[in-house]
Amino acid sequence: KSLKKYNTFGIDAIASEFTSIKSELDLNNLLAKNNTKPIFVLSGGSNMLLTKNLDYLVIHIAIKGIEIIEESSDFVVVSVNAGEKWHDFVKYCIKNNFGGLENLSLIPGYVGSAPIQNIGAYGVELKDTMTHCEAIHITTREKHVFLNKDCKFGYRNSIFKEEAKGKYIITKVIFRLTKKNHILNTNYGAIENALLNKKITQPTIKDISEAVIKIRQSKLPDPALIGNSGSFFKNPVITTHHFLKIQEKYPNIPSYKIDQEHIKVPAGWLIEQSGFKGKRWGDAGIHEKQALVLVNYNNASGKEILNLSKKIQTEIKEKFNIILETEVNII
Ligand code: EPU
Repeated sequence: KSLKKYNTFGIDAIASEFTSIKSELDLNNLLAKNNTKPIFVLSGGSNMLLTKNLDYLVIHIAIKGIEIIEESSDFVVVSVNAGEKWHDFVKYCIKNNFGGLENLSLIPGYVGSAPIQNIGAYGVELKDTMTHCEAIHITTREKHVFLNKDCKFGYRNSIFKEEAKGKYIITKVIFRLTKKNHILNTNYGAIENALLNKKITQPTIKDISEAVIKIRQSKLPDPALIGNSGSFFKNPVITTHHFLKIQEKYPNIPSYKIDQEHIKVPAGWLIEQSGFKGKRWGDAGIHEKQALVLVNYNNASGKEILNLSKKIQTEIKEKFNIILETEVNII
């Protein structure tokens, strides 16, 4: 089966076996039956680059459902099944005035993969509201509860990319959200400006969600129109000493302080300075409005995108002596 429709990069890789799973029970039965074929878990396919055909049993997690499991006048605890689309869940929260996820509006992908890389945008990360998640161990089929602290969340990272990698299938994610006195995060410049433009001084979570949607739509390509996986690289953290040396030559380099010795710099800026923004080789390219996003204009292969990413890495290493790590999972 072609996976073109199942990955936002739109790469035409073939899976030798493919099953879409709609309930935890079906998942259990499938895992019990299968003991030979290696398994590949496919969720929204929004953070991967497929560079080859997959001789795996590909399990597409399509378990749907949203349920309130605890509620008071101040907060609500919501359990969301892994196959819900992330942005559909955010829309549900905005509609019901549940606060905490508004800054994470319009992120592609499914709920089940959100904890894996601790999705984040505009000053908010999944780890700020997730209480725990449930997962099934692929070989023992036992259910595991991972509390927030068990997940070892970091910048675009968690236990599911480290020691638990490939061992579990996340089936449910549980969030604690506010019903009033929402903690708004509007410090991010672009959000501030969007609200100012609309003369909004006391924003609601809906205002913030709308602002984020507008900002994202203005810079990030819609995967339904142009294949992509959002930010292709992580923003690198370098030493302050290294940063100051670059700054001598490039006084306008943007930066975020991590601690006394470390500074994070935007990979998109580094890539733009290296002249890649908007460039295209065949159907593989760099988005014209955001250099951190690699795009598939139609029929690029995963290898072509991968080669382009390597070219960028080599150039950034030579020019800035910085190693760019991929944020997208290369398969
Ligand atoms: N910049 C450039 N040129 C570019 C792109 C960016 O100079 O082509 C500069 C901008 O001017 C700005 C800085 O880089 O000063 C940061 O840009 P932006 O605010 O667009 O954010 P980002 O660092 O590119 C990160 C996340 C995004 C997230 C946004 C907003 C990573 C790897 N990416 O991008 O996440 O939406 O911040 O919070 O951390 C994703 O993970 O897929 C993703 C899109």
